[in-house]
Amino acid sequence: MDSKKKLHIALFFGGNSSEHDVSKRSAHNIYDALDKDKYEVSVFMFTKQGFLLGNKDSLRIFNGEPEDEVVAEATKDVDFSNPLANIQNLSEVKDVDVFYPVIHGNMGEDGTVQGLFRLLNKPWIGSGIASSANSFDKDLTKQLLTLHGVRNTKYFVVTPETVDEHPYSKAKEELGDVMFVKPARQGSSVGINKVKTEQEYNDAIQEAFRYDYKVMVEEAIKNPREVECSVLGNRDPKYSKLGAVDVNGDEFYDYNNKFVDASGVVFKIPVDLPEKLTKEIQEMSVKAFKALDNRGLARMDFLVDENDVPYLGEVNTLPGFTNISLYPQLWEVSGISYSDLIDKLIQLAIDEFNDNAKLHYDFTELGSEKLGKGLLDKNGKHRD
Ligand SMILES: Nc1ncnc2c1ncn2[C@@H]1O[C@H](COP(=O)(O)OP(=O)(O)O)[C@@H](O)[C@H]1O
Ligand SMILES: [Mg+2]
Repeated sequence: MDSKKKLHIALFFGGNSSEHDVSKRSAHNIYDALDKDKYEVSVFMFTKQGFLLGNKDSLRIFNGEPEDEVVAEATKDVDFSNPLANIQNLSEVKDVDVFYPVIHGNMGEDGTVQGLFRLLNKPWIGSGIASSANSFDKDLTKQLLTLHGVRNTKYFVVTPETVDEHPYSKAKEELGDVMFVKPARQGSSVGINKVKTEQEYNDAIQEAFRYDYKVMVEEAIKNPREVECSVLGNRDPKYSKLGAVDVNGDEFYDYNNKFVDASGVVFKIPVDLPEKLTKEIQEMSVKAFKALDNRGLARMDFLVDENDVPYLGEVNTLPGFTNISLYPQLWEVSGISYSDLIDKLIQLAIDEFNDNAKLHYDFTELGSEKLGKGLLDKNGKHRD
């Protein structure tokens, strides 16, 4: 009497972003919620230095052993002069059925780890390589949103090479008195400043260059309401009810009130907004998900101005996923429990993988010996 083999899920968490600890908490909550009668679960933590810990050591960290000690012990004999050392424990993933990246920010949300899963040729939860990279880069995101008619704030990009072409006077003329300066590829409000003077403008650009050579200068939405929508699905995604983050009395939702002192921050889950605005935000969310070719999940963050006009601020393809995080909470109030949500994400990953497996990767029937000798017509015949 053989019981059906359990689906083997591997959680990847940690990473080298400022959200390392949030990722740990998200992964731990997901681990606890995964039904162990249905799933075999392994866990792998990327240390802040980029070393992939094996399942046993990652579990020790889950069980409360101090991370620094576990990492020091696990890496003491590792020869880091070998570039493969960082992923030497990858051999442990050979029986994994579905990868679950729970890594926020760079490495997790920017396509890096997705490239690894693609190489391993297994399903993974969330967006693909290019979609992740496009959604992580605030400039590329905005370009795609604009192309697909999704409203977002006016901005321009500065690089060290073009910074002289963007003096404060010109920027102010283009974008108004108050601007936001931010690195194009960061998160957690790291390196972001709201600027109102020439000095602040120049300093903010230099600060942002510490994180990225591509820096966004954006028009500021005055007294924005920050509203979020969760999206779930593959090519036919669904939206959730909306939530709001009210940052009382503060300048903006910065690193401090995200991670240091959240006492002034009030979450409204769900938030009651006028029906027309609610619909508009939900429709923009699904449109953005499609425009960016997202898969599985994404949290769409909006800034709503004083006239109730919504602007899509940014897209998070691996949003915080603790059981009190916005993304799962918005589904909870929309009728999908935390553990059902995880089941759905696993199924979506498998569906996406199976869909892709139907695509054509074998070109031998076209006559691969002819490739490289010139263009082939649609029947695989030589054209010249
Ligand atoms: N154009 C803008 N107008 C008003 N507030 C903004 C603007 N851009 C960013 N902010 C504020 O800064 C916060 C962080 O910016 P965001 O683009 O979401 O970066 P991150 O990826 O670091 O979260 C937002 O939640 C909001 O409070
Ligand atoms: Mg944000």
